[in-house]
Amino acid sequence: MPRAGAGRVDPPAVAFHHATKRFGSSIAVNDVSVAVEEGSFVTVIGSSGCGKTTLLKMVNALVMPDEGSVFVQGRATSELDPVELRRSVGYAIQGSVLFPHLTVEQNIAFVPSLLNKHDRRRTDAAVKKWMDLVDLPSTMRARYPAELSGGQAQRVGIARALAASPDILLMDEPFSAVDAITRSSLQDELKRIHERTGITVLFVTHDIDEAFYLGDRVLVMEAGRAVQYASPHDILSAPAVPFVDRLVAKRRAAYLS
Ligand SMILES: Nc1ncnc2c1ncn2[C@@H]1O[C@H](COP(=O)(O)OP(=O)(O)OP(=O)(O)O)[C@@H](O)[C@H]1O
Ligand SMILES: [Mg+2]
Repeated sequence: MPRAGAGRVDPPAVAFHHATKRFGSSIAVNDVSVAVEEGSFVTVIGSSGCGKTTLLKMVNALVMPDEGSVFVQGRATSELDPVELRRSVGYAIQGSVLFPHLTVEQNIAFVPSLLNKHDRRRTDAAVKKWMDLVDLPSTMRARYPAELSGGQAQRVGIARALAASPDILLMDEPFSAVDAITRSSLQDELKRIHERTGITVLFVTHDIDEAFYLGDRVLVMEAGRAVQYASPHDILSAPAVPFVDRLVAKRRAAYLS
């Protein structure tokens, strides 16, 4: 969108430009060119092994493309300091991402306490706010990650990623370990956070309903390629390839009725 009066166009939050990543002889991400507009919510779906996680990891330089480039806020990840890059790009993944030697409170406070060095109260307030938002009782503040269930640990991971106030948030199947009711309320909460903060979200999911509910654009991947990148409505009404057609066939009647 053009900036008022400046006559300039803001770069996309994230842009993949012919990005390719190989592992040995197999291609995990194959010539992907996609632009993610600032403030948008993009969901990424596709079968297991199609390259979703690899694509996400290219955004915060955990993976570098072998060919092509990835731009974050207009700058190539190859030219950015990874530490600086990861300050503006939050990453919430399932599994062992929490610091095991820090409590729930210390995990969530990790980045805010770096930012508010001389203002403990501000950090405390941030921890409380994000714990409330992801529905973690305050009695869990002093627990260690090993003392949490999978779903609770996942919520701490989400709170920690959000508490860092990133411009761009990468989420890799963040709700896979929570029950259906919690999942639904976390989806609503994330939608509200997205609308309120204008943060750009890239969200990987296996769940097509979740992809269509959360995403204002959906990126469909198949065997490393981006086969369709469009609004949920356009994907449902005009699937670009047979794979997408099969993926949405059962949902079409429900969504378009
Ligand atoms: N570090 C690695 N070394 C070797 N091969 C890898 C590595 N990381 C990923 N791959 C391979 O690259 C392909 C894409 O993997 P990726 O993790 O991106 O898939 P995914 O779409 O996230 O799958 P899932 O839905 O199962 O999480 C897979 O074939 C995978 O085996
Ligand atoms: Mg994955």
